[in-house]
Amino acid sequence: MKSNEIRNRWLKFFEGKGHDIVPSASLVPHNDPSLLWINAGMAPLKKYFDGSELPRNPRMTNSQKCIRTNDIENVGKTARHHTMFEMLGNFSIGDYFKKEAITWAWEFLTEELKFDKDRLYVTIHTEDDEAFGYWTELIGLDPERICRTEKDNFWDIGEGPCGPCSEIFYDRKPELGKDETFHPDNHNETRYLEVWNLVFTQFNHNADGSYNELPKKNIDTGAGLERLCSLLQDVETNFDTDLFQPIIQETARLAGKKYHETPEMDIAFKVIADHIRTVAFSVGDGALPSNEGRGYVIRRLLRRAVRYGKVLGIEKPFMYTLVSVVGDIMGEHYPEIVEKREFIEKVVKAEEERFHVTLAAGEQLLGDVIAQTKAAGADTLPGDKAFTLYDTYGFPIDLTEDIAAEQGLGIDREGFEKALNEQRQRARAARKDVASMNVQTEVFDQLKIESSDFVGYSETASAAQILAMISGGMIVEEAEEGDDVELFLDRTPFYAESGGQVADIGLISVGESAILQVLDVQKAPNGYHLHRAKVLSGTVKVFDTVEASIDHERRVNITRNHTATHLLHKALREVLGTHVAQAGSLVSSDRLRFDFSHLSGLTAEELDVIERKVNEVIWANEGVEIQEMGIEDAKKVGAMALFGEKYGDVVRVVKAGDYSTELCGGCHVRTTGEIGLFKIVSEASIASGVRRIEAVTGKGAYEYVVARERLLAESAGKLKANVNDLPMRLDILQGNIKDLNKEIEALKGKLAAGEVKNLLDQLAEVGGVPFLAKQIDGVDMDGLRTIAEDLKNRLESGVIVLGSAGDDKVNFVVAVTKDLVGRGLQAGKIVKEVAAITGGGGGGRPELAQAGGKDVSKLGEAIEKSQEILLGMLAKA
Ligand code: ALA
Repeated sequence: MKSNEIRNRWLKFFEGKGHDIVPSASLVPHNDPSLLWINAGMAPLKKYFDGSELPRNPRMTNSQKCIRTNDIENVGKTARHHTMFEMLGNFSIGDYFKKEAITWAWEFLTEELKFDKDRLYVTIHTEDDEAFGYWTELIGLDPERICRTEKDNFWDIGEGPCGPCSEIFYDRKPELGKDETFHPDNHNETRYLEVWNLVFTQFNHNADGSYNELPKKNIDTGAGLERLCSLLQDVETNFDTDLFQPIIQETARLAGKKYHETPEMDIAFKVIADHIRTVAFSVGDGALPSNEGRGYVIRRLLRRAVRYGKVLGIEKPFMYTLVSVVGDIMGEHYPEIVEKREFIEKVVKAEEERFHVTLAAGEQLLGDVIAQTKAAGADTLPGDKAFTLYDTYGFPIDLTEDIAAEQGLGIDREGFEKALNEQRQRARAARKDVASMNVQTEVFDQLKIESSDFVGYSETASAAQILAMISGGMIVEEAEEGDDVELFLDRTPFYAESGGQVADIGLISVGESAILQVLDVQKAPNGYHLHRAKVLSGTVKVFDTVEASIDHERRVNITRNHTATHLLHKALREVLGTHVAQAGSLVSSDRLRFDFSHLSGLTAEELDVIERKVNEVIWANEGVEIQEMGIEDAKKVGAMALFGEKYGDVVRVVKAGDYSTELCGGCHVRTTGEIGLFKIVSEASIASGVRRIEAVTGKGAYEYVVARERLLAESAGKLKANVNDLPMRLDILQGNIKDLNKEIEALKGKLAAGEVKNLLDQLAEVGGVPFLAKQIDGVDMDGLRTIAEDLKNRLESGVIVLGSAGDDKVNFVVAVTKDLVGRGLQAGKIVKEVAAITGGGGGGRPELAQAGGKDVSKLGEAIEKSQEILLGMLAKA
């Protein structure tokens, strides 16, 4: 049975038992800072387990892609370690419990998949007599095939929902005969293979380490698709199943090697096959290689795979060519891997290329470190250097060790481990604290609100009744001036913050007797709008009839920005490509912000085209149609859905003209013309591979343009020019500056010439040699040299010493005419001695030399002493 069939049968089986099939969520957790990756089938459903949101149907089933990275070094060396795997699951949120979970698991395994009943064993938690009863009485399992153990039989991942488990095992070696007492660890864990974990989630693990009973008991089960495949396809390891073999065969073809040629090469094949799946899927879900968090995991895996590629003799980027193979295998259930193929290939290839460069640099660094260690007479490489090689250059420690050993050197393992531990702590800190699961479920459960309608799509004010009020976490009957309250209405025009759109603000008035100011609106677990308000005056009571009205102008601005966000999303995909995926958005009243995946900065031209496209739809004044329909119909009309976002069966489809069709629960204009104008204000990178565009519309755009115009007018005013003439005036100004600079240069030349003439007049005789020593200020080294050369050219014979002072240094130039060089005088020697007085040095040709000095205060002294220096040299010559 192929993997696709097993996955489908699972989903269909549980659909038949009243479950909703939930698509796999993105590997990148959504609204859950407690997780680095989605790591179990229940992870994206946590909000239902803890009661912070109510599911449409309390029964759900999925095949969820998961990443676990706690054991990377083992991947490739064992039969079943993976970094990415698929977890098949069925879930009950306060609906069925142990009895059904056990019955259906048994039915699926033995009837649907036709597992031999005599080869199945189970474990239960030591104290779980209830589960024991179901297994023995309901299923009729021989009690000898049940092991009571605490080990692995309590699913608890720290803060959050947890509970006892019952695990189902498959006997892979019945020929060994029945064990005296069954325990899954017998035979070194090679005989019994865990296929399914049933978790009876009934507690909440609190932040302080204590446990509470959950308000509702839940079921969370998980079965690894890869191992089910290995059993049903009767193969030794997961890597021999149809989930991995096509990748391994393609790698073998690329390398010109065979799988099962040598044990070392087999490890390499497995590592590559495992890692490309993880890398391809995580990049497809918007995570990108980097040096921290998720990006670091991707980088490590890719590097590990590239190094193993070398074991197979592959020396050039190749991982990216495997992305399409992964798509062929898994695209049926995970269409994103096919849709994003080109983008993923691009990212993977670029990262591989970069790593090849890094590897070469690492080899060089290692060579240097070895040489230094030897030169210092030491016999071990420093641990921190080994760590840098490991961390920055991706050299595994054993590789560094091997290379060092070839040179007769060891490695400071302790220092390496220390650096590694420090790094791990940094990584752990990055994972942040586990999010609290303590939602005010109890308060909401007590409220028993039957219904609360949102009427704000069409109305901005509405008569309503207060259904309940909460203050300070308690249910209250009334509130008075100055109180902060949270309240529910039977109908409300107030939009609750969601889908990037901010909440409405406004007023709730109770006839003449009280006024409340609504500051924020959020969705309660049941989806009803919870208004956070302050009582401005009077007293308000539960069941009061009120008038609720939103800030209308603010809402209109929000709708302009929201519809414009859809148009922008579409234009980005048209101009940049369909890899553009929304990574976040903010729709407020004064601007919109849109984050999306794209590798490089946008050019001015791209931004122009995008802005124009959006405005063209605005000018066409097309109608915005909003319709509710089934999710399948929505897909048929091509509605863009946010990947990883959950949608109910009935979705709201927002169609802006013929241009954009998107699933959205937000507020929109009626015709695109109402947006008025769309202006992009900024475009920038916010993370590696994620760009952010900020834009304004309507009144905001008008104000932006006015402010820009004012800026132009102000600039023109300063130039005393007309705005239209600004470019021309700036050209003229720049031309003028160029001319002026030329003139300054010419004048400087003239000045220097004048100086030269002046200096010639000051020529004296020292020891029979025409001599001039002079300090000339405001001239740099080049200027001094020009003057000295000029002087030398005009003299038949002579020695010239010039000095100038800068802010914190001294310049000297010495020139000697040819005849005197013939008599043994050297400009270089003279300048050296002169400059030494100011604490400097220098040199040059015999006829012309320059030097710098440090002590500006000694410049005068140096110039004075140059006469003596010359005399001294003449005496020696
Ligand atoms: N959440 C359970 C597991 O991951 C099913 O094993």
